[in-house]
Amino acid sequence: MTNPTTDWHAHYEASAPAWERWADALAAQQEKVNAALLDEADIGTGHAVLDLASGVGEPALQAGRRAGPTGRVVATDVSARMLEALQGRARGAGLTNVEVRVTAMERLPFDDGSFDAVTCRYGLMYATDIGAVARECLRVLRPGGRLAALVWGAEADNTTLFVAARALQRLFPGRITDDEMTAPLRFAAPGLLAGIFEAAGAVQVRERELAMSPRIRKGTPFWRPLVEMNMGEIWNTLDTSQRAQAAQAIEAALEAHVEGDQYVLRTAMRLLTAQRAD
Ligand SMILES: C[S@@+](CC[C@H](N)C(=O)[O-])C[C@H]1O[C@@H](n2cnc3c(N)ncnc32)[C@H](O)[C@@H]1O
Repeated sequence: MTNPTTDWHAHYEASAPAWERWADALAAQQEKVNAALLDEADIGTGHAVLDLASGVGEPALQAGRRAGPTGRVVATDVSARMLEALQGRARGAGLTNVEVRVTAMERLPFDDGSFDAVTCRYGLMYATDIGAVARECLRVLRPGGRLAALVWGAEADNTTLFVAARALQRLFPGRITDDEMTAPLRFAAPGLLAGIFEAAGAVQVRERELAMSPRIRKGTPFWRPLVEMNMGEIWNTLDTSQRAQAAQAIEAALEAHVEGDQYVLRTAMRLLTAQRAD
């Protein structure tokens, strides 16, 4: 299958400060999603957990709370700046069982069978070789160990992010590539990711949709963190008047999703679960 052409390492390294800035505010909103992911990975007290593409710490920090002092979480990412921010957040939360390791998910520097569970939230889409990632996940899991991963569903079902992103892309054409725009949606087709993990030898492979319909008071700039974190290549280069112009364009695009005094939006994810054979 086609791999993304964007240099995601550089992209995320550059956007790490924005991810750090918004981390705590967004973590609270995503607690339910994290809980679903960690439930599927069957994470409990004393477990050793590997989190891939951890960014600034979700769901690694929540996994750390579940694993408790007798367990441990290794949070990994290609971006050292993301992991520095994660470490700071772990310290702030008093979590001493979360460690970080800079590594690409395609080649994991861990022994065979060394984890009870592997988790990954919104990360597998950036793999340069998803088949290798699936094989590595199974290799580092103990027999019977579980994997749970969340990826984005289709664009039409993700208006919370994509209405604003497309409005910005239209306003500043050529500043963000189609690959950058659509790579996050790469595993939206039902069954695609499940097939990749089955081919790698996983058992008990399941995929299901996780959907939400946020209602947000009209005029709330809810899109601001999403744009700063994901479209910094454009946002960071805009002056005050261009930002005002961007806000106007985004608000105009959101008009198609207004009911009464609210934006009615959609967020859809696919939740993959798999297991290493006993
Ligand atoms: C959308 S963020 C998700 C971060 C976090 N899991 C979350 O849900 O908030 C994607 C992360 O994947 C990381 N990443 C991209 N390519 C990677 C790779 N090949 N191996 C490991 N991490 C990668 C990026 O640095 C970034 O932190």
